[in-house]
Amino acid sequence: MAELIGASTWEEELYAHLTSHEVTEGEILIEYRDVAATSPSSAFRYLSALILEDEIRHHRVFRDLASALKNDVELDPEAPAVPHIGNWGDDAATVVRLTETLLERERADAKELRHLASELKSLKQETLWQLLIKLMEMDTAKHIEILRFVKRSATKSMT
Ligand SMILES: [Fe+2]
Ligand SMILES: [Fe+2]
Repeated sequence: MAELIGASTWEEELYAHLTSHEVTEGEILIEYRDVAATSPSSAFRYLSALILEDEIRHHRVFRDLASALKNDVELDPEAPAVPHIGNWGDDAATVVRLTETLLERERADAKELRHLASELKSLKQETLWQLLIKLMEMDTAKHIEILRFVKRSATKSMT
C-alpha cells in the first residue's frame, strides 16, 4: 500500500481504512456487475444494475477521500480530489439563495413521490414500480441532506 509521507499515526490509520475499504467496495462492485450481466432474471439484472451505479460512485468517493487525505498530509499544492469548502466561492449569499430554491424543488418532489407511492401501493407485489418510487424518495432525502449542509455552512461563512 502507498505510504503517506509525514503522516501522524491516526492519519496513517485513517488512510489504511480508506484504502482497504476502497478494495472491498471494488469487490462488491464486481459481484453486482456479474449479477447485472448474467442473472437469468431480468428483474434482478435491472435492480443489480441500479445498485451497481451506486457502488461505482462509492468506490470513487473512497478513492477521492484517500487521495484528499494524502494531498492534505503531504501538503500537495495540487487541488485535492475532495475540494475544500473554502468560502463557497466567496459568494456565499448566492449559494444560500440557490440552496433555498433547490430545497423548495426537492421538497415538492418528495411530496409528489409520496403521492405516487401511495397510488402504486396496490401493485406492490406484482411490479417493481413502487420500489423504484421508494428509492427515489430516498435519493430525494439525500439531496435535501446535501443542500441543507451547503446552506448551513454557507450561511455561517457569511457572518
Ligand atoms: Fe457500497
Ligand atoms: Fe432530487
